[in-house]
Amino acid sequence: ETRPIPRDKGVDNTLALMAEGYQFIPNRTRQLKTDVFQTRLLGQTAVCMAGEEAARVFYDESKFRRRGAVPKRVQKTLMGEKAIQTMDDAAHKHRKQLFMSLMTLERLRLLNIYVTEEWRSAVERWSTMEEVLFFKEVEELMMRVACRWAGVPLRENEVEMCSRDMGALIDSFGAAGPRHWKGKTARKQSEDWMEKIVKAVRKGKLQAPNGTALQAMAWYKQPNGKRMTTHMAAIEVINILRPIVAIGRYITFGAIALHEHPETREKLAANRGDYSQWFVQEVRRYYPFGPFTGARVRENFVWQGYHFKKGTLVLLDIYGTNHHPDLWNQPEEFRPERFRDWKESPFSFIPQGGGEYDLGHRCAGEWVTIEAMKTSLEFLVRKMEYDVPDQDVSYSMARMPTLPKSRFVIRNARPGR
Ligand code: HEM
Repeated sequence: ETRPIPRDKGVDNTLALMAEGYQFIPNRTRQLKTDVFQTRLLGQTAVCMAGEEAARVFYDESKFRRRGAVPKRVQKTLMGEKAIQTMDDAAHKHRKQLFMSLMTLERLRLLNIYVTEEWRSAVERWSTMEEVLFFKEVEELMMRVACRWAGVPLRENEVEMCSRDMGALIDSFGAAGPRHWKGKTARKQSEDWMEKIVKAVRKGKLQAPNGTALQAMAWYKQPNGKRMTTHMAAIEVINILRPIVAIGRYITFGAIALHEHPETREKLAANRGDYSQWFVQEVRRYYPFGPFTGARVRENFVWQGYHFKKGTLVLLDIYGTNHHPDLWNQPEEFRPERFRDWKESPFSFIPQGGGEYDLGHRCAGEWVTIEAMKTSLEFLVRKMEYDVPDQDVSYSMARMPTLPKSRFVIRNARPGR
């Protein structure tokens, strides 16, 4: 026996999605008292789901595929066309192995060294500036880290422009109009830049250091024995650089959390128990970044009495699952200690997707993100001093991705303690 999937009212809710942003799915699961409902977005039916059980079925690859799930406008900005995010089955697992091979302990240790070095020199630079636009500066800092770690040469006079391009790719994902166009321009520019670099490596004119993403992507052989096109290799190198720059957003939110909850500063500096881990996890849970992720039904199936029809677009609510009242006590409070006793599950806490790294589509860079955030935020409370002038650090829940309105301004930044 099956039952109908609860329906959202309206002929098409694309405008409601743009207006409500991160709250679009949570508003409806709350009103309709359900973790599954059906709506219309961009002229098609979309089933939206939230919660641990929804995530578990969403990551069952016998039920869902990614082909045809990512809108073209997002591929043409954020991630690049036909990249890993859109692949399935054996081809996907092979490509995913390429990404995961870069995430060894040794490579993570190196990343942390680069992060620390770049914070040290950034604070030197900032100490000569009266005021620092924290978000912009941290994106640049992370771009320097990303390129060093990935083996990509970055000249000093390219730092600002290239990091602005990476920032524009990220900033465009939920946008229409100028922010979307900026994203398209940034994609063209950064792919051209990276194609030249990949070509130079393949011609032996540029040496990509062993173990780096640039080297791995340039020489990777697909299951058919052929190398990726220069274009595709460029896209996948950018799929490493761009999200490392994106960590700048979480670091900015982390700095704001430290500012708004001053008692957390001392705790983070002391790092008793595993406080730094809890703090970073709570930043990734509490602050909005990825709103949802999508897939299509592979074959008809029934789940919890609901019939899922082949080809239907299904959206898994990332933000709503991380704030789900069944999974989190007082989800709207920022409380790092909640992670002390957190019952670990690959499906209840999904800021970077759920399920498995090697087999599924869970973010390849989750460890990189956690490490870079810990090192950066510990540096902030232990190794530097700064003042925070009055400003508006609130953020819109309609803008995707969102950012604090002031972009976080600090003054008198200097090495400290
Ligand atoms: C996939 C979020 C950082 C590389 C994803 C997904 C999300 C996500 C939501 C899709 C999960 C799905 O659709 O099931 C984030 C966030 C980050 C971050 C919020 C923090 C800034 C990184 C970093 C890297 C990275 C630092 C690389 C160094 C990837 C790759 C995929 C991915 C390659 C595609 C995986 C696949 O399709 O198999 N990420 N990510 N991400 N992420 Fe991240």
